[in-house]
Amino acid sequence: MTDAEATVADYFPLTDECHHYTRRSDVLWDIQKYWAQRYSIFSLYDEGINMTDDSWFGVTPEPVANKVAEDFAALTPNSKTVLIDMFAGAGGNVIAFALSKRWLTIIAIEKDPSVIACAQHNANIYGVYEDITWVHDDSFSYLAANSSTIDPSRTVIFASPPWGGPGYTTDKIFNLNTMYPYSIKQIHDVCKGMDSALYLPRTSDLRQIAKLAPEEKKIEVVQYCMEGASKALVAYIPAVVPAIS
Ligand SMILES: C[S@@+](CC[C@H](N)C(=O)[O-])C[C@H]1O[C@@H](n2cnc3c(N)ncnc32)[C@H](O)[C@@H]1O
Repeated sequence: MTDAEATVADYFPLTDECHHYTRRSDVLWDIQKYWAQRYSIFSLYDEGINMTDDSWFGVTPEPVANKVAEDFAALTPNSKTVLIDMFAGAGGNVIAFALSKRWLTIIAIEKDPSVIACAQHNANIYGVYEDITWVHDDSFSYLAANSSTIDPSRTVIFASPPWGGPGYTTDKIFNLNTMYPYSIKQIHDVCKGMDSALYLPRTSDLRQIAKLAPEEKKIEVVQYCMEGASKALVAYIPAVVPAIS
């Protein structure tokens, strides 16, 4: 995809699903723990950050998002200037990518209209709304439909998929093959032609990640910690380069 081909989508209005909670008593019991960490999640929370109730569980805290943005930039050759975020959520990562000023084009894909509305609103608070191309779509459909215009030699993918499914918090080793609703294979299949960074549970099975390494190449896996505890790991996976026949 060239920079010219990327167009800015509509601004999605905030919906009844989007909230800026200011009192603990307004917050559902199962997100009160996250609300207590609101300034670690978004330092500008009080400027009016909005999230859907589900977004609280998946949002990447700002210090982690900033470090991931720094590391992905450092690991990526300058020839790659387009970043696609397959699961933009409330904007935690994509705002950090935009603030890094490393990418000429950033495409944020989110399928839930209330969540993309929150992400756009939050990006506006951080002053980067205009720097992001917003796509309201299923990311798998979007990548398939745009495969002829996405240039793998210039594009990288960031994916922070939902981690739902059995045993995310209880299993000692997280099985990426049964990750719900998308397995590691489903995600890797659509990313593998490009360098990618996958944001995964900290206990993810490293043997399953290692199997994704292209021949003769290595995957870098980084644990991201806050206050002494790992929040997640990111697997930085080089593109599979098709053999020339
Ligand atoms: C873990 S959250 C992403 C959090 C995000 N990185 C952040 O920091 O705010 C995953 C998001 O992916 C969205 N999603 C799930 N499946 C999708 C798909 N096929 N295409 C686009 N978005 C999808 C969900 O609605 C959810 O908002």
